[in-house]
Amino acid sequence: MSVVVVAGSSGLVGTALVEALRQRGDTVRVLVRRQVASPGEYRWDPDSGQIPSEAVSGADAAIDLCGAGIGDARWTRERRRLIRSSRVGAARTLSESCARHGVPTFVSASATGFYGDRHDEPLDESSPSGGGFLADTCVAWEQAGRPAENALVRVVHVRLGVVLDRHGGALAKMLPAFRWGMGAVLGSGRQWFPWIALDDAVGAFLWALTHSDLHGPVLAVSPEPVRQAEFSRVLARSLRRPLFLRVPAWVLGFLLGGMGRELLLQSQRCRPKVLQGQGFQWRHPVLGDALKEILLQRPLR
Ligand SMILES: NC(=O)c1ccc[n+]([C@@H]2O[C@H](COP(=O)([O-])OP(=O)(O)OC[C@H]3O[C@@H](n4cnc5c(N)ncnc54)[C@H](OP(=O)(O)O)[C@@H]3O)[C@@H](O)[C@H]2O)c1
Repeated sequence: MSVVVVAGSSGLVGTALVEALRQRGDTVRVLVRRQVASPGEYRWDPDSGQIPSEAVSGADAAIDLCGAGIGDARWTRERRRLIRSSRVGAARTLSESCARHGVPTFVSASATGFYGDRHDEPLDESSPSGGGFLADTCVAWEQAGRPAENALVRVVHVRLGVVLDRHGGALAKMLPAFRWGMGAVLGSGRQWFPWIALDDAVGAFLWALTHSDLHGPVLAVSPEPVRQAEFSRVLARSLRRPLFLRVPAWVLGFLLGGMGRELLLQSQRCRPKVLQGQGFQWRHPVLGDALKEILLQRPLR
C-alpha cells in the first residue's frame, strides 16, 4: 500500500488512474487547482509553483497528468503558450517538490508528439526528439523533471500515444462523425497513428510505479501500430458504417492550422520497446479488438 500524489486527476487518464490506485489499496492525495471539496484533496497553483508540503511530504510517488487540452481550441499564440506552460509549470512544480521532500518516484505524462513527423522511421525510447511545436513542448515538459532527477528521484516519462476511450479524448471526438457514416481518412492516411487503450495507459502508469528499475522515457502505445487510414477503416467497420470520405491535408491545414498539421497528419511509428522488454501485458494490443471492447463500454451515468 503506497501513498501516491496525483496532479491532473480530473482528466481522462487521471480519473481512471485514481480509481485503479484506490482499488489496489493505495492512498491517493489529489492536487486540485480549484477549492478543496473533499478529504484527500490539496489545493496547489502549478503556475506560481505553490504546493502545500503536507500534500507531498511522506508520499511514495507523485504522478503528473496536467496539461491544457491540445485538441480543444485552435492553436493561437496564446493557446500555444498555455499548452506549453500548463505542462512545463506543473511538471516543474511537482518535480521540485518531490526533490525537496525526498519522494522516491516521480512519473510524468509525456507524448509521442516528442518525435515530431517521422514518416516510416521506426521509433523507440532511444530515438531523438523531432521538430515542431509539440515536439519542442514535450522536450521542455520532460526537462521539467530535472530537479527531481538531480535529487536522485527515480523519474519516468510515460510517452502516451492517442489514448482511446469512448467517454473522452480523441475517440470521443471522432465517434459522432463515424456514427453518421461521415468518418474520413485524413490526408494520405499513410501516417502512423500511435494509439493505446485507456486500460493499458493506466496499466503503464501502474507499471512505472511498481517497477523500481524503470526510469527515463517509456512509450505507452500499442505494440501493433496502424496507419491512420487503417485506424479509420477499423473504426468505421466496428461501428458497421461505411468509410468513403478523405479530407486532403491542405484542407486540414487550412481549417485547423498548425493543430491540424501536427495532431492529425504527423507520422510516428512507435514501438514500445521498454514495456515489451519488461514483459508488460497489453489487455488490448490489437486495434479491432480494442475498439470492439471500448465501444461496448457502458454509457457514463
Ligand atoms: N489523452 C491522450 O490521448 C493523450 C495523449 C498523449 C499525451 N497525453 C497527456 O497525458 C496527460 C493526461 O491526459 P488526459 O487525456 O487525461 O488529459 P485531460 O483529460 O485533458 O486532463 C488533463 C488535466 O490537466 C489539468 N489541466 C487542465 N488545464 C490545465 C492548466 N491550464 N494548467 C494545469 N493543469 C491543467 C486538469 O486537471 P485538474 O483540473 O484536476 O488540475 C485536466 O483534467 C496530459 O498531459 C496529456 O497531454 C494525453
